[in-house]
Amino acid sequence: MTHPVLARNRVAVVTGAAMGIGLAACRRFAGLGMKVCMADVDAAELETARAEIAKLAPDGQSGVLAVPTDVAKPADLEALRDAVYERFGEVGLLMNNAASRTGGGVWAPLEDWHVAMNVNFWGVVHGVRAFLPRMIAQGTPCQVVNTGSKQGITNPPGNTVYNITKSALKTYTEGLQHELRSTAGCKVSAHLLVPGWTTTGKRAHKAGAWLPDQVIDLLLAGLERGDFYIICPDDDVTPAMDRKRILWGAGDLTENRPALSRWHPDREVLQTLAESGDQAQDDYFPVEDYPATAKVLMEQEATQVIIGDPEADRAEVEFLLSQGYRSLLMVPIVLGGESLGIVEAMSEEERPWTRTEINRARIISHQLAAVIQSRLAPARPPHDERGAEPRAVI
Ligand SMILES: NC(=O)c1ccc[n+]([C@@H]2O[C@H](COP(=O)([O-])OP(=O)(O)OC[C@H]3O[C@@H](n4cnc5c(N)ncnc54)[C@H](O)[C@@H]3O)[C@@H](O)[C@H]2O)c1
Repeated sequence: MTHPVLARNRVAVVTGAAMGIGLAACRRFAGLGMKVCMADVDAAELETARAEIAKLAPDGQSGVLAVPTDVAKPADLEALRDAVYERFGEVGLLMNNAASRTGGGVWAPLEDWHVAMNVNFWGVVHGVRAFLPRMIAQGTPCQVVNTGSKQGITNPPGNTVYNITKSALKTYTEGLQHELRSTAGCKVSAHLLVPGWTTTGKRAHKAGAWLPDQVIDLLLAGLERGDFYIICPDDDVTPAMDRKRILWGAGDLTENRPALSRWHPDREVLQTLAESGDQAQDDYFPVEDYPATAKVLMEQEATQVIIGDPEADRAEVEFLLSQGYRSLLMVPIVLGGESLGIVEAMSEEERPWTRTEINRARIISHQLAAVIQSRLAPARPPHDERGAEPRAVI
């Protein structure tokens, strides 16, 4: 490591340090020769973890401090800060990592909402407010890492409470970094660590998940480069998939789609539409090589390709297989008698498409044609003042 924060004798403070990603971070910081301050609400687990880190730290016991801390309580963070400055005299890196697993859907008990917000969101705010003024005043390069989650970016349904804590944290950390970089002379930067699916706590490791060490590898590489967003894949979800999912969520707003449309019953049709826009340049192919595709454009009728159908064209079947699908529905987008494109839906099942699905795809193709038409229509001439309609004041 060449970054001045990730260096021998600098001080790292980690909350939620007794296990999981926090503990893995402490191991690595100690391995870099940093002094480590570990904070966790679980005092017994914290003591076990402290003993482990003390064996790794170059200065042994004297290079490690463990302070039982409940991040939900601002006074605990202030006491933690005082203890670290008294023992080590500075802080180079603050990792606000503690999180509660309390959560649930929108009807979760109010008490659970408060626990989750108090730990996952307010816990980080408490950490920043307790430590940052002194870290800035040090005048040395320093870093703050807040551990977020993809759930705070893509908002999968199910654990809305947790998602909200992490999306609030993302917004907060973005604002924090903006303020830090806009503050004259400030040498502190903020970073958002976004782990993927990671085996932590006392859970058994499952195929597909990453191990905390892999998250820390990515964290250190990101901090070294000065990245703000440090987004980890896992063995199931690649960076390309993350990118698509993030863009899909943003597309709900820009395309006026239903909220959380990735989990909407019409998702296959919607997703295929967005993806065909996404990949249009890469996936360009001569239509005459694909007879069913050519037919749907020429005859302007819905057409299906099912891989087990002996009539299906080989090239189209191979294309489907290469995408991991087994049946394809195509509906033309028609405007003024001309085919402008195709709405495609693909399914992992080898089966004909239902009437309802075909109708949904048709509705989408009509809606798209209407959107295209409205974009093509000449802009309305500006009103002259006398005939102007009253204007809304926004
Ligand atoms: N494991 C994953 O798949 C995953 C994915 C995305 C994000 N994350 C995030 O990574 C971070 C670490 O998660 P993990 O999986 O290592 O969790 P973990 O449950 O293994 O460890 C969390 C630690 O935080 C401590 N903690 C809980 N409440 C606290 C409080 N009020 N004050 C102080 N400490 C408290 C716990 O005692 C525990 O030691 C969390 O912010 C989590 O939201 C984890």
